[in-house]
Amino acid sequence: MELAVIGLGNMGGPMAANLVAAGHTVHGFDVTDIAREKAAAAGVQLHDSAADAAREARIVVTMLPNGSLVRSVLAECAPECTPGTLFVDSSTIGVGEAKDNHQYLAAAGHRYIDAPVSGGVTGAAAGTLAFMVGGAADDLADAACALDIMGRSTTHCGPVGAGAAAKLCNNMILGIQQIAIAEGLTLGERLGLDPQAFFDVVSNSTGACWALTTNCPAPGVLGTAPSDNDYTPGFATNLIVKDLGLAMDEVAATGTRAQLGALAAEIYRHLADSGAGAKDFSVIYDTLRSA
Ligand SMILES: NC(=O)c1ccc[n+]([C@@H]2O[C@H](COP(=O)([O-])OP(=O)(O)OC[C@H]3O[C@@H](n4cnc5c(N)ncnc54)[C@H](O)[C@@H]3O)[C@@H](O)[C@H]2O)c1
Repeated sequence: MELAVIGLGNMGGPMAANLVAAGHTVHGFDVTDIAREKAAAAGVQLHDSAADAAREARIVVTMLPNGSLVRSVLAECAPECTPGTLFVDSSTIGVGEAKDNHQYLAAAGHRYIDAPVSGGVTGAAAGTLAFMVGGAADDLADAACALDIMGRSTTHCGPVGAGAAAKLCNNMILGIQQIAIAEGLTLGERLGLDPQAFFDVVSNSTGACWALTTNCPAPGVLGTAPSDNDYTPGFATNLIVKDLGLAMDEVAATGTRAQLGALAAEIYRHLADSGAGAKDFSVIYDTLRSA
């Protein structure tokens, strides 16, 4: 099948590569040379614009940094695509942004589901992402041929916007957990615990979570985490700042009490302001250790 992937970065690049490896023709576009080069090496057919990449595709996957970029790419592609094209947005964006995209594309004669993911760069590379989808059941069924290759599970959360809602809740939890692990590690070290001993105990105890077992912020423990590569993302601090900002918008709109989420949003904002925005968010550990 002819597919398109727009946004070939840390996540979209390996997702597109897995679609190619499964035998699909994948048209791609990204604005940066490095992303384009990696995707071309994986067999993605590169184009000079998002519209050119999307034109022949039945399913167009977007994996972009934020909601306004998603909207501008959709606006560029929609007039060029065959009516009924299915747009699958896997970027993390706001609930309202997803609903607006749906309205816009439906008016243009196309279909849309919001299908954000969990699992990080390792999950994208391994084809084991967890998709959380908002949209019509028929559209989700049509997207399954692509989602099943890029991920190991798909949950239909409800109408358009429900996938984004699930993702924002998940990432509020994740942001809190990454700070909690960094605080625990720092306290442990100051009490004389080696990071490896901390990892061995907590990864087998009730404090275990992805932020430790896959994204351990202490270098030299896992050997495969962003912390082992000078905190090269992975999941950039700028992205968790964006996600927690979106989550806090929903917290305010719904009158939800989320004190830890609000504090985590503030902590990552400071981290980004201090110059660490392009580093993996687990770099919070480095900051806490030197405080
Ligand atoms: N990195 C993670 O662990 C992770 C996990 C789940 C979800 N996400 C979400 O996935 C999305 C992408 O994240 P990422 O880590 O891959 O980010 P990234 O910055 O590595 O990749 C985004 C890519 O989009 C490209 N891009 C920007 N504007 C474009 C445009 N107009 N047309 C085409 N390409 C354009 C960038 O050049 C970049 O290569 C974000 O919304 C993020 O919140 C990330």
